[in-house]
Amino acid sequence: MPHPAMSPNHVAVITGGASGIGLAAAMRFAGLGMKVCIADIGEDRLAAASARLASAAGGGVADVMAVTVDVSRFDEVMDLEAAVQKKFGGTDILMNNAGIGPDSNSFGPLENWQHILAVNLWGVIHGTQAFAPRMIERARPGLIINTGSKQGITTPPGNPAYNVSKAGVKAQTEALQHELRNIPGCRISAHLMIPGHVFTALTARGRTEKPPGAWTPEQTVDFMIARVDAGDFYILCPDNDVPRPLDERRMLWAAGDIVENRPALSR
Ligand code: NAI
Repeated sequence: MPHPAMSPNHVAVITGGASGIGLAAAMRFAGLGMKVCIADIGEDRLAAASARLASAAGGGVADVMAVTVDVSRFDEVMDLEAAVQKKFGGTDILMNNAGIGPDSNSFGPLENWQHILAVNLWGVIHGTQAFAPRMIERARPGLIINTGSKQGITTPPGNPAYNVSKAGVKAQTEALQHELRNIPGCRISAHLMIPGHVFTALTARGRTEKPPGAWTPEQTVDFMIARVDAGDFYILCPDNDVPRPLDERRMLWAAGDIVENRPALSR
């Protein structure tokens, strides 16, 4: 039984929704009868994805929106929120999922760091600030799901800008969950999605076949839906393909009060 925010005719907005995990989430939500907005910077991908989505929604084009947006720009994310409000009347699920993973190192160039942080971390902050106020006013069960990464928790050597951005997403999501709990009557809960190794455009690196051990985006999203329903704050996808094992205790310890208080408040 999916979470009540995933009810038919409720509204889901997914950034980075034209590909990979975001598109798989959009397809699943549409399959549940939700109205879905995919928001992405890639215009061609967006057009192809919205055609797939419309057929998943039984040809219900009226229930699908595709919006070109750069999540690193707050003005564009604000415009996205206004467009969703106008077409669908509000938002029940926000999935801040857009992300990039070019290589980086500690010595620069600075523009590379700025770009990675602008998309992966500021994109999440922009989404939250643009959407959360009206989601709270809506007074319905809601979800804000931010896509982090195991690299934001284990912070292995290599690609420090990516690790820093995803560590920031973890911290932001923990703070948000705490803040939402303190708003009387608020039925929105935040969740940190922590994928394992998922075979997508981001990770394919020229491969056309899914490597053994990697998950498909669809498997990842099915796991996410089940864990949200179970009331987990950390949606920690299992896999054995990380540079060093995830120290789950460290992660849970760091946010002990949230873990203790994590019953499914959002019903
Ligand atoms: P993907 O590359 O298939 O999808 C990412 C989407 O984000 C693309 O459609 C891209 O156009 C969009 N995007 C990039 N920059 C954007 C911007 N400035 N504004 C709006 N949209 C933008 O990759 P995937 O794997 O589906 O990634 C989704 C999320 O999952 C990312 O945040 C990624 O860091 C995270 N993740 C993925 C893992 C994996 O193994 N695939 C593992 C851990 C985290």
